[in-house]
Amino acid sequence: MDSEWFPPEVDSQRPSVARVYDFLLGGAHNFASDRDLATGLLRVEPQARELARANRAFLRRAVRTLAGAGIAQFVDIGSGIPTQGNVHEIARGVNPDARVVYIDNDDVAVAHSRTILAGDDQSAILQADMRRPADILAAPELKRLIDFTEPVAFLLVAALHLVKSEEDPEGIVEALREAAAPGSHLVISHLTHEAQPGKAAAIGKLYDRATSPAVSRSHAGILRFFDGWELLDPGLVYLPLWRPDEGETVENPERFLGFGGVARLP
Ligand SMILES: C[S@@+](CC[C@H](N)C(=O)[O-])C[C@H]1O[C@@H](n2cnc3c(N)ncnc32)[C@H](O)[C@@H]1O
Repeated sequence: MDSEWFPPEVDSQRPSVARVYDFLLGGAHNFASDRDLATGLLRVEPQARELARANRAFLRRAVRTLAGAGIAQFVDIGSGIPTQGNVHEIARGVNPDARVVYIDNDDVAVAHSRTILAGDDQSAILQADMRRPADILAAPELKRLIDFTEPVAFLLVAALHLVKSEEDPEGIVEALREAAAPGSHLVISHLTHEAQPGKAAAIGKLYDRATSPAVSRSHAGILRFFDGWELLDPGLVYLPLWRPDEGETVENPERFLGFGGVARLP
């Protein structure tokens, strides 16, 4: 493993949700503690890699859809360690002028994002905590690229389930909605216990020792994050069912343990 991608202050002993996810996606930005948690996760959910890929595929389809609908600015909150098909790459495949601000609180995710984005003056990475949306919205790095008088897409993809209910995840989306111009969009994917409560609970227990918890929620609980927004078709659905690519069919979509939805601010 090369050592250029991680800053010296990084805590390699405590599993990080960003690095566990990187491992599941086949990345190399992870430590033994992360792989250990991932191994436990694969024991509970042998399809965890497929779930992570389905989540990335949902992100890709959502960003492509929104860029195609004219959204030119994206704020990707809980953006993770850059992997193949990052938001700026997907969006610019449709609109070469798309601007993207990535936000994460993980040292490795931020360091690697900085490396990837060096020299790109239409994208930025901001190290911040999504539980403090007011700080995010006031950050100069964000304001440099994002014009809140124009529609923006906020992405909270596999992010809100890392926020405990007592930490007010609804307050995060409310703050974003208040800052957004009409025609803005909200993209959410989220762990659920609807179909497989035992598995979701076991995953939650595993993440107790990680840098963030894994809080599964019901369909109704996730739907509440979209209060004040209008869900686009087909609504809040199991990840592979959200506007699948042509010819793509999936057996037993509920095995994906996650819902995804995209909504528009009227
Ligand atoms: C599972 S990854 C998802 C990455 C990407 N959004 C995706 O879906 O492919 C979740 C990311 O959220 C970040 N995260 C966790 N808690 C956070 C917080 N309080 N503030 C900002 N980022 C956070 C983690 O560091 C991690 O990179």
